[in-house]
Amino acid sequence: MTLLNFHALRNLQSVEMAPSSRINVISGANGSGKTSLLEGVHILGMGRSFRTRQLKNAIQTNEPYMTLYGRLSGEPEVALGVRRLRAQRELELRLKGEKNARLAELVEAMPLQLINPDAFRLLEGSPAGRREFLDWGVFHVEHDFLVTWKRSRRALKHRNALLRRGRIQPQEMAVWEQELATWGEQMDILRRAWFSDFLPVFEETLKVLLPLPGLSLHYARGWDKERTLASVLHDSRQTDQQMGFTQQGPQRADLRIRINKQPAVEVLSRGQQKLVVSALKLAQGRFLERTAQRHCIYLIDDLPAELDEHNRHQFCGLLEDMQCQAFITSVEPSALRNTWRPETSVKMFHVKHGEQGLSYLEPTS
Ligand SMILES: Nc1ncnc2c1ncn2[C@@H]1O[C@H](COP(=O)(O)OP(=O)(O)OP(=O)(O)O)[C@@H](O)[C@H]1O
Ligand SMILES: [Mg+2]
Repeated sequence: MTLLNFHALRNLQSVEMAPSSRINVISGANGSGKTSLLEGVHILGMGRSFRTRQLKNAIQTNEPYMTLYGRLSGEPEVALGVRRLRAQRELELRLKGEKNARLAELVEAMPLQLINPDAFRLLEGSPAGRREFLDWGVFHVEHDFLVTWKRSRRALKHRNALLRRGRIQPQEMAVWEQELATWGEQMDILRRAWFSDFLPVFEETLKVLLPLPGLSLHYARGWDKERTLASVLHDSRQTDQQMGFTQQGPQRADLRIRINKQPAVEVLSRGQQKLVVSALKLAQGRFLERTAQRHCIYLIDDLPAELDEHNRHQFCGLLEDMQCQAFITSVEPSALRNTWRPETSVKMFHVKHGEQGLSYLEPTS
């Protein structure tokens, strides 16, 4: 990003920021608006917040709407805009000056990775988070993925609806099962190919942060390894009907992280889990740079609170090795002031409390 301009986002009434193309450190007291600033970038690139499902909660109290504007670096630069009215559910998206841009276009234009305390629960949380991580990777390097994902999701919805309808209509069922089998197998092919290329990058990244011999990452496709999805779906109709949903398929894919064959989350300390998650997230950016020559934007909330000094140093070194842009928040700027190499472009910002609890942003040196 070369420019950010937010209006009426939480306690940030109006902030303009010309960030460094590389490292941006945002400091400020508790409650000053640091996380809100990252949230703004996240909404701009993903059309949703990482803090709330109800985007209207992010609109400043007593304001009718919020506007987020940003310019993405590149030749030429790409303008992005998001507006959310309190009275209207839909987001208004703008891309390159065009109204009614589609969300997928925004997401494609601006690959984002978020590292915050919730992200550190990736290992212990539900498979949905790991699947999202996996699909993010595939989506950004494989153009056919979105269509594949949409068609498979549509087929799954229809099959689930039929399962709940009571008496199954075998012909109608066969149509959607075939559709799901076709697109589900295709999704597996794309995910598997991505995974086998991603794995060495992850291993290499992890080695820098935390040498953990015995740690392994696996991709599980969501149904029996030995059988086709078509036959799995066909044979599980009855039990699926009892459950009321499709029990196996690409919607159940997962990344399994084990250490000496045990689930990593049951063995690793909290800090070790954070490092594994950091390695996963940094590896996404490294992989994207290598395969698609694209740079990911990192949003990193309260890094000093999450990692100790040595690990922070290793982590920052990996960030610097990439050509990515990062927005890193910290209550205290000092923890992140002298970590960087002289050649890295670093800008420091400070979020200050203003009147009525509203905050503004100040560049500092
Ligand atoms: N819709 C809203 N309108 C106005 N202010 C809001 C709104 N939602 C939250 N706030 C306030 O915005 C402030 C910014 O919160 P934020 O989480 O960004 O702070 P922070 O700098 O990340 O703090 P911490 O260091 O504690 O993580 C808080 O004081 C919060 O009460
Ligand atoms: Mg915060």
